[in-house]
Parts: sequence; C-alpha cells; structure tokens
Amino acid sequence: MVTAMVNSNTLLDEARELDRTDSLAEFRSQFHIPHVDNIEDLYLVGNSLGLVPRRTADYVQEELGRWANLGVRGHFLGSPNWASYHECLAKPMAELVGAVDSEVITMNTLTVNLHLMMATFYRPTKGRSKILIEAHAFPSDKNAVESQIELHGFSANESLLEVPSNDRGLLETETICKMIEEHADSLALILLPGVQYYTGQVLDMKAITKCARRNQVVIGLDLAHAVGNVAMELHDWEVDFACWCTYKYLNSGPGSLAGCFVHERHARNTALPRLAGWWGHQKDTRFQMTGDFDPIPTAEGWQLSNPPILSLAAIRASLDVFGEAGGMSVLVEKSKNQGAFFRRCLANRLGDQVQAIAPPAISGCQLSLEVKLEGIEGRSVYEALEAKGVRTDWREPNVIRAAPAPLYNRYEEIWKFVDLMVGCLRS
Ligand SMILES: Cc1ncc(COP(=O)(O)O)c(C=O)c1O
Repeated sequence: MVTAMVNSNTLLDEARELDRTDSLAEFRSQFHIPHVDNIEDLYLVGNSLGLVPRRTADYVQEELGRWANLGVRGHFLGSPNWASYHECLAKPMAELVGAVDSEVITMNTLTVNLHLMMATFYRPTKGRSKILIEAHAFPSDKNAVESQIELHGFSANESLLEVPSNDRGLLETETICKMIEEHADSLALILLPGVQYYTGQVLDMKAITKCARRNQVVIGLDLAHAVGNVAMELHDWEVDFACWCTYKYLNSGPGSLAGCFVHERHARNTALPRLAGWWGHQKDTRFQMTGDFDPIPTAEGWQLSNPPILSLAAIRASLDVFGEAGGMSVLVEKSKNQGAFFRRCLANRLGDQVQAIAPPAISGCQLSLEVKLEGIEGRSVYEALEAKGVRTDWREPNVIRAAPAPLYNRYEEIWKFVDLMVGCLRS
C-alpha cells in the first residue's frame, strides 16, 4: 500500500482536532496518570496494567468504612452487602463479553479459573485426551494445560496439540479449523486466546467456536487481552467457557480478581463434575452447614471461597466507568480510529522501518511493533523510549507492545509516541 507522506505538523494538528471532537475525551480526567517529577508518563501499556480510576479509592474506602463500622455484620447488612457483593458485577461484566448475567462470575485469578474450568470441561479418555492450543501460547496457559494432561495420567508429549502460526506470526482460522477437523476424534478440549498476547491479533472467535461445536469439541477461551478491548458475543457464539483477568483493559488493579464465563447450557447443569467449595453451594442453604454440596445453577456454582471484597470494589468502580462511557461499541469505535491514526503516523514518519505484526482488520487496541532497521535492536529502542517516559512493554523475542486505551489515551499521545520513536531511531 502506498501511503501519501504527510508533514508531521499536519499529523499533530489532526491529532489535536481528533482529541477536540472525541466524545470520550473527558474520561481521561477520571484516571490517575502516572508521572515522574510532575511530568505525565506517556502510558500505552493498559494491555498489561490498566490505570486506576479516581473513583476506585472511594469504592474501596466505602468497604473499609463498612468493615470499620460494622465488622462481621457487613456480610449481611446493607446493599450490596459482602455476601452478595459479586452479584452487582454480573450484569456489567456480562455486557462486556456478550453474555447472559447468569453465565458470568468474578472470582479467583485467571490461571486458577482456567484450572477450575478444565476440572469440569477437560474429561479425557484413552482415545480422546488431546488439548489443542496455539504454538506460542502464553506460558501460564501452556503450564496449566500440560499439568492438567499429566494430572489425568496422560503425557503432554502425546496429548498436547499446537497450532503453528504462519510466517508473519499470525494464527489462521483455516489452519485452526483444519486441525480441529483432522483431530476431532481425539480432541478433548480446545483452549485458545481471544486476542494473542504477543501479536495483538484478534482471533475469529465466532468462526473457530462454530467449527469446534460442529465437531463436538469443547472450546474455552483465554480473554486476558480481549476483555475491555474488543466486542464479543460469547453467549450467541456458544463458547463453552472463558476466563479473563481484570487488571489489563479493565483497570481493576494489580492481581485483581478474574472473570469467568460458563455458557448457560452448562451453567444450569448442576450434575457437571467440578472442584467444589462452599461459596458455590445454594445461597439459601449455605449456612445450614450440612456439608452437602448443592451447586447454584449459574456460573456462581463454580465459586470456591467468599471473595475479597476490596478487589471486587475496585472492579465495580471500573465497570461503572465502562458503563458511563457507553460500553464496548463506543470504545471499539474509538480504538479503531486510534489504531488507524497510529498506523498513519508510523507509515508517514517511519515508512516500513517499524511495522505492526497484525493488520488493522484483525487488531484491537494493541499494536505489536517490530523494528526492521538493520543494526538496530528493538529492545534498545524500547529502552530509549522508556527513558523518555514512554510506558510500553517489551516481549521476547522481538516486540514492543503499545496499546492506546480509548478510555484514557489521547490521539496526541499517539503522535508523540511516534515522534519520540523517530527521535530514538535517528539517534
Ligand atoms: C494471555 C494470558 N494468559 C494468562 C495470564 C496469566 O494471568 P494470571 O497471572 O492472572 O493468572 C496472562 C497474564 O498476563 C495473560 O496475558
């Protein structure tokens, strides 16, 4: 594609105009922007740790206050009280992933939820023990899957099936579906990302799920990089289960609780085997303390423990911001515009010296940038940017991940990032 070269100042004017007319612009002031010596960071790493909304402190403080004033009575006094606090997150969380409220639960952490889901949905037999993942899966997913295979007495060497990426590092729907079809008889589970962490590629979750369902293979999704980034319809696509963290695009704090989706056709089925705990037991009889396990016929039935309320409060604060912003469709529209502007700045200022791995049609907020300049290490560019107050992240072996978040990043910051990159490459 030939891109007409535009003067850098013209791009800066354009960025300022885009910020001036951006209907989400005011949301930036709702976040704390990290800074050094009173100079704001150029923060493009919400794909790793999202920023803290200003209101989060109030929501957390409210629960600390209730704890101080009520002590143990906080479990059942007030609305929401702690025993039911997670319930007020179901609707906003379900909206983010295209689910019915009863299909979503906020609990544990991402890898723990993957294990819990596999305890239910990975039921290998001698002839059908394989799990399909991508060849460059996030390490924790691979660790979880391999340990599940071995826990069931199978060998990861034989039961782990990995989809290769193409020569551009991308996963092709056709390759994935071909492998599902070829191995359908021996596949017990498919576990794939919604958005690939390294490349930022958005997978065709709908088509892949359709293929899995057609071949009667259970499919789970890791949505760590997808939630709050791209629009999804997990219920309509009939995904079996999905898990995600809340500390990236969901701005809910380091190590905050995770989300989990169980399609209602499973969630209603209380006969499904699972790793159980008292918080998954029916609420009206939980405190009779009989020791029986009668699971709640929703995704709540997979809960183990009473959850950490301070973390739930931070998630609630963040989901309220998403709701006020108008939800995923509004955010995705801005993110697409920001992505297009980002690519135009890169092409105009750097030609093909810095390239995004995934093309626009299959990208979300994150651009995974490879430095293609002979003799220049991508990592040294990343470090030079870091020294100038630019927060992105470096992922081995060769990528700078930069992810403008539509809730708090401005177009002008994108322009500035590219301008600083030009400076780094010249020097
Ligand atoms: C794609 C993906 N999967 C899994 C994880 C692990 O998450 P956790 O440490 O919350 O279990 C991460 C963490 O960044 C991730 O990006």
